[in-house]
Formats: sequence, C-alpha cells, structure tokens
Amino acid sequence: MKRILTYGTFDLLHYGHIRLLKRAKELGDYLIVALSTDEFNAVKNKKAYHNYETRKKMLEAIRYVDLVIPENTWEQKEDDVKKYFVDTVVMGDDWKNDERFESLRKYCDVVYLERTEGVSTTKIKKELGLQQAINGVDQIPFVKNKG
Ligand code: CTP
Repeated sequence: MKRILTYGTFDLLHYGHIRLLKRAKELGDYLIVALSTDEFNAVKNKKAYHNYETRKKMLEAIRYVDLVIPENTWEQKEDDVKKYFVDTVVMGDDWKNDERFESLRKYCDVVYLERTEGVSTTKIKKELGLQQAINGVDQIPFVKNKG
C-alpha cells in the first residue's frame, strides 16, 4: 500500500483543492491530509473562514481523502512521515524547493504538483468581499460527537 501525505488549510473548498487531492491520490493508494488547525493558521498569519472541524468534515467527504489529521506546527512533518509510514509527500508547486519539504527527502519522496490556475481561497474571499468575515465559522452546530 502506497501512502501519500499532503498539507494545507483547504478553506472554502474549490476546484484547485479537488484537483490537487485527486492527483495526489492517483500517486498512491491511501491519502492523508494534514489540515492546518485554526491555531496554526494564526501562527501563519492566515485566517480560515470555516473553522477546523468544518473544514475537516468537508475534506472527509471527498472520495480521494482517506484520513484527515491536524497540522499543528511547522516541525511535525518528519514525525508524520514516520508515524503514518508515508511514501510520498505531495504539495502544490507554490511550495517547490521549500526547505520544509525538501528536508523530508531523507525519509520519503517529495512531489510538487502544478497549481490550478485562476483559483484560490484568497481570490474567492476577495471577490465575495469576505475579508472581514473570517475565522471560526462553524457549520456543525449540534450533535458534536455523532459525526
Ligand atoms: N492548490 C492548487 N491549486 C490552487 C490552489 C491550491 O493546487 N489553485 C493546492 C496548494 O498548492 C496546496 C493545497 O492546494 O497544496 C492547499 O492549498 P491552500 O493554501 O489551502 O489553498 P489556497 O487556495 O492556495 O489558499 P490561499 O489563497 O489562502 O493561499
């Protein structure tokens, strides 16, 4: 079984995300998404419109995604690769040659996939005038423990 791992915030899911996940899954058999938590996004100076739990549920509903784990720090990648027996880490090519991923080549393959042109969460927010409506929107308002 070939295991693939990718990282990201995946806020306001769009076709660029779906295409990245589809191609990532096609590189192996099992796709793990390490999803940036709201706290880690704050460290990155990023604010997601949907909170972590909402983003997680949406990713789990995508057929290409087998497991969603939290991304809490920049430093966890090496541990993730070892813990989940990852064969390949995949990122969009906006991360190409970034040492945080290049350093993983000691433990696994690292593949950068071409980004889908013309779409991004930032662009969607801008076009919808959402810059102020940020952080923590929870679309799972009840039955928290029942999925
Ligand atoms: N991605 C992609 N094509 C796009 C947008 C994103 O392939 N048009 C990829 C990124 O390269 C990354 C993953 O999807 O590997 C998650 O990206 P993320 O940063 O969550 O999405 P963006 O739309 O780039 O968000 P933002 O505008 O906030 O940076």
